[in-house]
Amino acid sequence: MTGRFITIEGGEGAGKSTAQTFLAEKLTAQGISVLQTREPGGTPLAEAIRHNLLSVDEEAPVEMTELLLVFAARAQHLTKVIEPALNQGQWVLCDRFTDATYAYQGAGRGLSAELIGKLESLVQGGRVPDTVILLDMPPEIGMARARARGALDRFEQEEQAFFERVRQGYLDRAARFPDRYIVVDAAQHLGGVQKSLEAVMKRWFTDA
Ligand code: TMP
Repeated sequence: MTGRFITIEGGEGAGKSTAQTFLAEKLTAQGISVLQTREPGGTPLAEAIRHNLLSVDEEAPVEMTELLLVFAARAQHLTKVIEPALNQGQWVLCDRFTDATYAYQGAGRGLSAELIGKLESLVQGGRVPDTVILLDMPPEIGMARARARGALDRFEQEEQAFFERVRQGYLDRAARFPDRYIVVDAAQHLGGVQKSLEAVMKRWFTDA
């Protein structure tokens, strides 16, 4: 039996890590073997690429380089970590995946969805997440949280309009793939977010 591939998406400061930990604890309590990982990253090489992508001290990649680096990291991560785990029946909880590329490099930077789709097919074959949990909130709330966490990375230093486009990019994807996407209002209090996540999990077990 192959595992379930779940990704958690959203803007900066949307609470992805908290949601991931919450889901992992609940699933583990159900006896499910869970692998928690993130993108860009998840292997030593992919984490090195992440460092270059997020750093404000390294040479900034041009848009095409940024896109190719994201997919280079993904190829490594998918082959070395995600596919083997799913094939062993583990459930994979991944903090961001290709929907982030459509939102950030597509809607945010303005690269075409067609180009991203070509790289997606090349790198992933037919592999897409079974469920995408989108933690949606107005970017100004998320950015206030990100600022409170400390120094801002290269993406977090973008202007407000960039994050508005990213948010809309995610919402457009959610509208296009309603079977795969679950949109959670992440601006509500933590208890409300957790209730929504519990409802999502209940559906997984009823469907199984
Ligand atoms: P985060 O996971 O801590 O939010 O940081 C990762 C950053 O990388 C975030 O600003 C979004 C960005 N990113 C992309 O631009 N494209 C991608 O495909 C992925 C996975 C992340």
